[in-house]
Amino acid sequence: MSTDSKLPAVIVSRKGGVKVIAINNSPVNALSQAVREGLAEALQRANADAEVQAVLIVGRGNVFIGGADIREFGQPRKPPLLTEVCNLIEASNKIVVAAIHGAALGGGLEVALAAHYRLALPEAKLGLPEVNLGLLPGAGGTQRAPRLMGVKAAAELMLGGKHLSATAAQAAGLVDRLAESGDPVSAGLAYANELLAQGAQPRRTRDIAIVDKATALAELDALAADTAKKNRGLFSPLKIIECVSAAVELPFEEGSARERALFAECLESAQHAGLVHAFFAEREVAKVPEAKAATPRALGRIAVIGGGTMGAGIAVAALDAGLQVVMIERDAESIARGQANVEKVYDGLIAKNRMTEDAKAAVMASYTPSTSYEVIKEVDLVIEAVFEDIEIKKAVFRELDRTCRPGAVLATNTSYLDIDAIAGVTSRPQDVIGLHFFSPANIMKLLEIVVPAKVSADVVATAFELAKKLRKVPVRAGVCDGFIGNRILAVYRQAADYLMEDGASPYEIDEAMRAFGYPMGPFQVTDLAGGDIGWAARKRRAATRDPRVRYVEIADRICERGWFGQKAGRGFYLYPQGARVGQADPEVLAIIDAERARKGISPRKFSADDIVRRYMTAMVNESAKVVEEGIALRPLDVDVTFLSGYGFPRFRGGPMKWADMQGLDKVLGDVLEFSKEDPLFWKPAPLLEKLVAEGKNFSSLNQLKG
Ligand code: 3HC
Ligand code: NAI
Repeated sequence: MSTDSKLPAVIVSRKGGVKVIAINNSPVNALSQAVREGLAEALQRANADAEVQAVLIVGRGNVFIGGADIREFGQPRKPPLLTEVCNLIEASNKIVVAAIHGAALGGGLEVALAAHYRLALPEAKLGLPEVNLGLLPGAGGTQRAPRLMGVKAAAELMLGGKHLSATAAQAAGLVDRLAESGDPVSAGLAYANELLAQGAQPRRTRDIAIVDKATALAELDALAADTAKKNRGLFSPLKIIECVSAAVELPFEEGSARERALFAECLESAQHAGLVHAFFAEREVAKVPEAKAATPRALGRIAVIGGGTMGAGIAVAALDAGLQVVMIERDAESIARGQANVEKVYDGLIAKNRMTEDAKAAVMASYTPSTSYEVIKEVDLVIEAVFEDIEIKKAVFRELDRTCRPGAVLATNTSYLDIDAIAGVTSRPQDVIGLHFFSPANIMKLLEIVVPAKVSADVVATAFELAKKLRKVPVRAGVCDGFIGNRILAVYRQAADYLMEDGASPYEIDEAMRAFGYPMGPFQVTDLAGGDIGWAARKRRAATRDPRVRYVEIADRICERGWFGQKAGRGFYLYPQGARVGQADPEVLAIIDAERARKGISPRKFSADDIVRRYMTAMVNESAKVVEEGIALRPLDVDVTFLSGYGFPRFRGGPMKWADMQGLDKVLGDVLEFSKEDPLFWKPAPLLEKLVAEGKNFSSLNQLKG
């Protein structure tokens, strides 16, 4: 039974004594005002209809109900509220059955929890993921779930924001009956009729008593302590625990009132705005002109050239997606190392009991190692991941041009190099594209799809299709030094170096950025990645560096001593005996002091707020340039790049959303203030100036034209 936009949002029919209420609101049966109104009316009619003995609630299409309609948040709330609808369901004098197939999430699960009996089909997934949007379940979920599944389990479900499978939900007590197969209507009708035959009565979740309140409250206290430690300033998780505590301590109606009040607070929070922006932006990024205009090419067998850090990670990502993978390396020794790099990932999973030897063997059966290009003649797509050296890459692409079948997609994983130049050495630049993965490539979600001048639209569409298969978040980028992410990173990293030379310690900078919400500060990241990588790049660029640009040599002084970070036992931090968390190093502070003295800089004091302002302003100003030049299609593409690839705190929505929330006039004011010290580095982005002059924000540019 598919959804049909020509029909009403709620479709009612009767099968014998059972009234079937079907939600029909494509694509995910979200609980829009029309759905809520339709549900309430249908229930009231069913209650008043003597012919009706039971009510069955189902969803049409692929899901039961995907939750409240997120697009309605922020608009004036129109009655009936979902809480009222849920209360109406629960209060019904006829038995109400929910038959769940596909997703029953957030408000969708709350509808089911208000029903008297719940049936799930095998592929159902149940969850209360509101926390991912900075919210809490606001239609009775925090009060009903603990009564059905236990206090601790319910709190953990809401805090984790993850889905339960049908069987797990049954084991947890959320589901009464599993249907083996069938569609929700026939399975639901069979269950409802069976219940009627047994003389089943309405069974209201609110009437379930929570026993052993003392244990429950102690468990919630422990969860609250753990959550406060782990969630780095997130607002809604602690509110969830408050609501669940209310479920334990207060009668149902009072607990629900508490839930409503705290839900309203979450709805008002900036974190909610950031997280909702992230939710929609991650879906919008795949909507690019080429993906709409062209059909993807075939994608079954792929080749990876190079089996180092990236090649092996990309191979694992592709194998995990069920693709056939050939890996090419330079010689026998290198290919053996490449294969070992791949196997190391699976062996790690086996060691953690997350994979069996048999499963590894099954995956590795799709993997072919080789040192000869002849074996990749027939593959559909090649991803080159050899050393970051334009001449080596050009040689590889000449070889690919010679061997690969016509129509094969030829991709490079370069981080910075000119893909137009790489495409230029082949006879088929229309087939050449950038696929910039992030390390570890089998884990990191971001995939920058870099679109050179001559590539054809169907190759771009194929890249987006590959991203979908690999479950990556694709962002379309234009060709420039560093594309979207690394180009902007280079600028705000420079701002961090200036802050350090001007007076802030690397430890203060890291702390300020962690307090902002990053999992790690920039100097911790350098130590983790290895200081030698950036050092090599700086040496490579030394000859072409603009002499007018301020250059901070502190990192070079540290690298000259072989202090390459964690792997060397010291970098900006000390890592005694292989420690993973570094300690401040007085010798590093002395090096910084010496560099300041050498340049005649008297150190200034920067507060955490000053540090964030400079770091973020540099990021936003460069982002505006990237959007204006068309390197990113829209501001939201920059946001998703940083959320998925650079650890930007999700609750802030991304750098462009952050800037909008600050007010662009304030951001521009900061750029102008800082530019008094260094007009070259802090040159305002023309787009930023234009938006401020027009009274607009970055969000106004998020709609694609055409
Ligand atoms: N409201 C409005 N639109 C929604 C939506 C929702 N709850 N959930 C998904 N959509 C939209 C998406 O934006 C997308 O739109 P687009 O086609 O224009 O880009 C479309 O539906 C399809 O979404 P997906 O691409 O994500 O489809 P999938 O099939 O991959 O996944 C899903 C379906 C599992 C339901 C997934 O969309 C999802 O997880 N949705 C969010 C679920 C959620 O967070 N629910 C809680 C909402 S808050 C709430 O209920 C508050 C309550 O307690 C009061
Ligand atoms: P790496 O040094 O770990 O691996 C490179 C591999 O390529 C080596 O195994 C080498 O033997 C092989 N190789 C070199 N020349 C070859 C040739 N002609 N034919 C076949 N194999 C050859 O390097 P890494 O880190 O994997 O980087 C690879 C590419 O990915 C670079 O372009 C890099 O800029 C890019 N990249 C790196 C990221 C990282 O975090 N390491 C992130 C994103 C992109």
